[in-house]
Amino acid sequence: MKNILIAPSILSADFANLEKDVSMVESAGADWLHIDVMDGHFVPNITIGPVVVKSIKKHSKLFFDVHLMITNPEKYWESFYKAGADLIVFHSEVLCDKNLLIQKIRETGIKVGISIKPKTSVNDILEFLPLIDVVLIMTVEPGFGGQSFMNDMVPKISSLRKIIDENKYNCLIEIDGGINDKTAKICADAGADALVSGSYIFAAQNPQQVLKGLKSI
Ligand code: DX5
Ligand code: ZN
Repeated sequence: MKNILIAPSILSADFANLEKDVSMVESAGADWLHIDVMDGHFVPNITIGPVVVKSIKKHSKLFFDVHLMITNPEKYWESFYKAGADLIVFHSEVLCDKNLLIQKIRETGIKVGISIKPKTSVNDILEFLPLIDVVLIMTVEPGFGGQSFMNDMVPKISSLRKIIDENKYNCLIEIDGGINDKTAKICADAGADALVSGSYIFAAQNPQQVLKGLKSI
């Protein structure tokens, strides 16, 4: 059985008690902390800025996985790096110089990833695979937690797994959106390495038990 990394998304946490919720998932064995940054432009929602990331960082030793759903990652990535991001994921659909952005993030020593929205093909990011640490496949339209997993994204996971393995790229596959016990198993079987889960964990009666369940998928 492969060890799947679990990244609780704080988008579904209690923002008035972030310290408590982050400690709760940390002590339950979370591997990463997924932080959804939205600018109200790339997606129709506004969420977390660097000041919040900096504040949580003081209270957590988790690996900070920062998912930038923003139109201008080239302008803002550095403030998230300074705030404590360990991985910065930007979207393939943005228009900046992606090679340069990857290089700049890499120079700091932290990890870098690229995310694709449901309508974006894996083919669009093939050229970046040798250069990045993570591909984040969206299995819902980005913008909100609590949506249903899009089953038709599963072939993307398997085809990316094949490409990464055949070329021996050092790149993890992370899945984001609609993850619960059933969809986690589907993604793990298709070749995922890391799973983001927001509402399934934080809305549960016993979030720690749910998280432990996901880890043992
Ligand atoms: C959606 C975000 C996700 C979201 C996942 O745009 O990128 O990370 O928090 O939430 P659930 O697990 O509830 O689908
Ligand atoms: Zn996300």
